[in-house]
Amino acid sequence: MNQHAQALEEKIRAKTARIGVIGLGYVGLPLGIEFAVKGFRTVGIDLDPRKIDSLSQGKNYIQDIDDAVVARVLSKGLFSAQDNYAKCDELDVIYICVPTPFTDNKEPDISYIKSATEAIASHLRAGQLIILKSTTYPNTTEGLVQPILEATGKKVGTDIFLAFSPERIDPGNQKFTTANTPIVCGGVTSDCTTLAVLANEQIITTVIAVSNPKVAEMEKLLENIFRSVNIALVNELAKLCDRMGGINMWEVVEAAATKPFGFMPFFPGPGIGGHCILIDPYYLSWYARAYDFETNFITLAAETNESMPFYVRDMVIHEVAHLPKSITDVNVLVLGVAFKRDVDDTRHSPALRVIELLLAEGLKNISYNDPFVSQISISGNEYRSVELSEKILGQTDIILITTDHTGYDYPWIIKHSSCVIDTRNATKNITDPALCKKIVLLGSGNTKKN
Ligand SMILES: NC(=O)c1ccc[n+]([C@@H]2O[C@H](COP(=O)([O-])OP(=O)(O)OC[C@H]3O[C@@H](n4cnc5c(N)ncnc54)[C@H](O)[C@@H]3O)[C@@H](O)[C@H]2O)c1
Repeated sequence: MNQHAQALEEKIRAKTARIGVIGLGYVGLPLGIEFAVKGFRTVGIDLDPRKIDSLSQGKNYIQDIDDAVVARVLSKGLFSAQDNYAKCDELDVIYICVPTPFTDNKEPDISYIKSATEAIASHLRAGQLIILKSTTYPNTTEGLVQPILEATGKKVGTDIFLAFSPERIDPGNQKFTTANTPIVCGGVTSDCTTLAVLANEQIITTVIAVSNPKVAEMEKLLENIFRSVNIALVNELAKLCDRMGGINMWEVVEAAATKPFGFMPFFPGPGIGGHCILIDPYYLSWYARAYDFETNFITLAAETNESMPFYVRDMVIHEVAHLPKSITDVNVLVLGVAFKRDVDDTRHSPALRVIELLLAEGLKNISYNDPFVSQISISGNEYRSVELSEKILGQTDIILITTDHTGYDYPWIIKHSSCVIDTRNATKNITDPALCKKIVLLGSGNTKKN
């Protein structure tokens, strides 16, 4: 190790290293708070003034973080937030946690990583360690970030240190948090890996070193593509079960999951959403094309998952056809617009896509309820979450469960409704025949309904 590496190692071990986190979203804020809780002076940088204002007032905006913890580290001066890169040169370890969305044509948009790196480069100081956490295609760290940093004249592995260490946070997961979820880390040189592993170990119990950043980049994509492919498989089989009738796909998966080895359960649904599983496969497909390689399997999975909101739309239209009303008069109440259970994140939520598709079919009376999401905007229309009441449920023609929040009282909802389309098997425990006959369950051949 050279003198820069040694000095940084000592600072990290002594907890005098100053930590910087670029991007204070679902990934960056929990990470920054975790370092502050462990006693590291941490600075968060985000270009969204609303987030900085909120933190400046001691207010937390990420559901999984304890408000009191955020207020405590802010008041103790262990954590501060700013909307610019001033004094970035005073930071020792800088994590990049900015978004990696795709464009309208589903190509990677790495502009956030690029601009964050350029901003870091304009304040770069010898002895700094930069760790990219945003999910991206292989070779982003060495092919994009490293050249921008080295254009300053400082060399990675000698003057500065660079690694890729993907995030695994699962918002809403009470059991696995930032601290107890193992993570992978690959540096450009062995010193980069050693320092990045050491920095991560200050807040994360298990850190697994891999040979280089490309392995870590590919590993993260494998994790999410694994989920995408398996969800696509059960979605396809759910459609087949609907076609055949008499087989409940949810029961099939539960039964298969009794095998104690070689099977991991995945369940069908109205589609996938969030900032990861929907997007990440496209990062790899796009990158693979540079090698004259079509990731057909991965693309087919993404296509299958993206067909699900259309499938759910058709389920609704099928029920509408049985109502003695014109389509424009039908009332649909959507339950759950977050992309998954018990979170407030609506990014790429399949529920929003289903509402958009139903509007395009001519349905005018669509409302929604979500205990975590107070308002949404779709196709230029603003919606506010409506209160659930016996009256509202009774006036609604079709209840569509798109997100199975645990707080919903499903028996009560079904009791006061006339038709419930369940895309999540949220009504699994309902056995009362009077209630069952009101339910149309995705992937069951509509067997529950008379
Ligand atoms: N959300 C998850 O559950 C999750 C899990 C694992 C990995 N990831 C990956 O982590 C990355 C971040 O995801 P997220 O969900 O935290 O995104 P997010 O949108 O919640 O947060 C990103 C933040 O970065 C800020 N930002 C954008 N450009 C910036 C810049 N140049 N300088 C400073 N701040 C900037 C934005 O204002 C935003 O607050 C993505 O690559 C994502 O794929 C997310």
